[in-house]
Amino acid sequence: MTTTVLPTDPPPQLHQAVAEAVRLLQQGEVVALPTETVYGLAADALNPAAVAKIFAAKERPTFDPLIVHLPDKKLLDTVAEVPPEIQKAVIQLIERFWPGPLTLILPKKACVPDLVTAGLPTVAVRVSANPVFKRVIQALGRPLAAPSANRFGSISPTSAGAVVAELDGRIPLIVDGGACMHGLESTILKVEAATPKNLLTILRPGPITVEDLKVYGRVQRVTRSVVDEATEAPGQLASHYAPRTPLRLLAKPSDFTPEPGKRYALMSFRGEEKDGYLGLTDWAQVLVLSPGSGKLPEAAVRFFYVLRELDKLGVDEIIAEPMLEHGMGTAMMDKLRRAAVKP
Ligand code: TXA
Ligand code: MG
Repeated sequence: MTTTVLPTDPPPQLHQAVAEAVRLLQQGEVVALPTETVYGLAADALNPAAVAKIFAAKERPTFDPLIVHLPDKKLLDTVAEVPPEIQKAVIQLIERFWPGPLTLILPKKACVPDLVTAGLPTVAVRVSANPVFKRVIQALGRPLAAPSANRFGSISPTSAGAVVAELDGRIPLIVDGGACMHGLESTILKVEAATPKNLLTILRPGPITVEDLKVYGRVQRVTRSVVDEATEAPGQLASHYAPRTPLRLLAKPSDFTPEPGKRYALMSFRGEEKDGYLGLTDWAQVLVLSPGSGKLPEAAVRFFYVLRELDKLGVDEIIAEPMLEHGMGTAMMDKLRRAAVKP
């Protein structure tokens, strides 16, 4: 199969790309689309044959459920039930965060194929804020299942070029909407009724942070074992997001002693000499997430790109500096820990 990449700028190109994406999706094909988090590989969520093509292109096991994207938040009840005891909280959350990088886990409606939810009684739903994604899904007028547009277990793509590297020859179309605004996948949240405050469980940390959520309830994070993950959040396998090159996450500079003859590359947070990592060895390459300032949202935008570039070098090991574990640092540290687990 030949993979076409269509630009979305200037506007006549945008209209062409949107029309072509809608045409293919209506035919039950898969299309890679930009979202505000990462690129997604989309198909008509209510068409099991189309959804099956997502699993095939990604080589994704069918126990790993997909996120359903809606054209508009008003359509939530077409795919999910909102239990009365959490209705108020859910309405508040979607009023505040949709469209945006928040995915909610809710009981599913019968129209959602079991293939989408991996047989679970719940469905993961969100509404994307990306202008290109919005145009496509609103023109189509149907929900889209869309996981990240990478091969299963690989690094999520945050540019059309990264999707080409992952899925060239396996899908008919990539719509190039430029770089993704957040650069990390959506926060996945489960809401449960409790007194005096509802319980909000973060199943996957992302751009919507604990700090953003805590006014809506008591927030907890789950750190799961691989066994639990296989049942409750099946896609959150410990060895996710792995580069092919072994990766080690340091807690402090003195944790690293280079072995003679080995080549190392450094993923540096802000590239400052005084942090103590730059001088540890003669690095084959140093890539910096947020040069100088060390701003977490900037680091997040560059995170998967930097990981992908470091993985191309063919070094013996990628060494990662730790980041602050607040805001988007929580999600990046989570991904680094998962990348560091040997599959
Ligand atoms: O930002 C995002 O969420 C991106 C863009 C494309 O929207 N999508 C994304 O999809 O990251 P994916 O498939 O790479 O990750 C979705 C994860 C699954 O791996 C799984 O852990 C979780 O969502 N998930 C899906 N349905 C679930 C459910 N019913 N219960 C618990 N977790 C679920
Ligand atoms: Mg993914």
